[in-house]
Amino acid sequence: MVHLNWNDLPFGYVKTDFNVRCYFRDGKWSKPEISDSEYINIHMAATGLHYGQESFEGLKACRGKDGKVRLFRWDENAKRMTSSAHGIVMEPVPHDLFREAVFTAIRLNENYVPPYGSGASLYIRPLLYGSGPEVGVKPSKEYTFVVFVTPVGPYFKGGVKPVNMMICRDVDRAAPLGTGNIKVGGNYAASLRAIIKARDNGYSNVLFLDAKEKKYIDECGPANFFGIKGQTYITPLSESILPSIINKSLMAIADTIGIKTERRRIPVEELSEFDEVGACGTAAVISPVAKITDPDTDKTYIYCKDGNPGPVSLKLYNKLVGIQCGDEPDEFGWITILG
Ligand SMILES: Cc1ncc(COP(=O)(O)O)c(C=O)c1O
Repeated sequence: MVHLNWNDLPFGYVKTDFNVRCYFRDGKWSKPEISDSEYINIHMAATGLHYGQESFEGLKACRGKDGKVRLFRWDENAKRMTSSAHGIVMEPVPHDLFREAVFTAIRLNENYVPPYGSGASLYIRPLLYGSGPEVGVKPSKEYTFVVFVTPVGPYFKGGVKPVNMMICRDVDRAAPLGTGNIKVGGNYAASLRAIIKARDNGYSNVLFLDAKEKKYIDECGPANFFGIKGQTYITPLSESILPSIINKSLMAIADTIGIKTERRRIPVEELSEFDEVGACGTAAVISPVAKITDPDTDKTYIYCKDGNPGPVSLKLYNKLVGIQCGDEPDEFGWITILG
């Protein structure tokens, strides 16, 4: 294993030894190629640079107590990348190729999978973009698929800590019939102004409302939203949010531990009825929300005062992280063990 300060890793980029690249040219995908360079050579007229033909994924692998590397639900990320590719007319990556590239990138950098118990994990970033040159607005004829990995520290150092969020009405990250439901870079570029404004005002992130009417909750920055009412888990139904794999997994877990689930529109006013609120996604699994401020009405919704996550969020979090690390049985068949 390489020598890194595993307990003090940032949630950021750390160089590893190898990455994997595949090219779609002349109507077919190449075999995965291994590279030790952090740089990619790109045509200056590539559609990925000019017209936003770009999508990415994010998934994690953890080392278990038994020393084995466990990868969480890679097939869901492969499917979502296919849906992103269709959404912006790119050549989809065949699932076998996705799997081979991801598994190869992990195996070649196995030394960078953090040790069990450090709270850190290996983050895997598949990236697909139009690499062929075009000047008119049209899809590229060539695509590049890259997979790199980087070890990341736990999102919350020293345990899960509730965060504060700010409602945003003056920026939309995606339009109702646009690209909000796929993972393309443009959505993130569009969200930056709102995220920076929230951070500048002392909030950890922003709560986006539906772009059309500003009546319903959409998502929390780069994570899905959920609220807990009694023993019910409620999450937004919206055509402009990313279908989160962690959200789907939390709902599956909830179903098995007697917590009801609802996926439906959530009016902003319903924020006053939740016992617990959280943001969920690969990075943090669950970020419990302590309070949500609505700067337009000066209302503040408070969910935890003692700095601790609520009991239902904590139960779901512990179960999901337990499955990811191998401390809990993989009852849903979500884990692939790689060596
Ligand atoms: C906009 C957005 N919503 C939700 C999520 C959570 O998705 P997942 O659980 O698949 O990581 C992410 C992170 O990928 C995201 O970027």
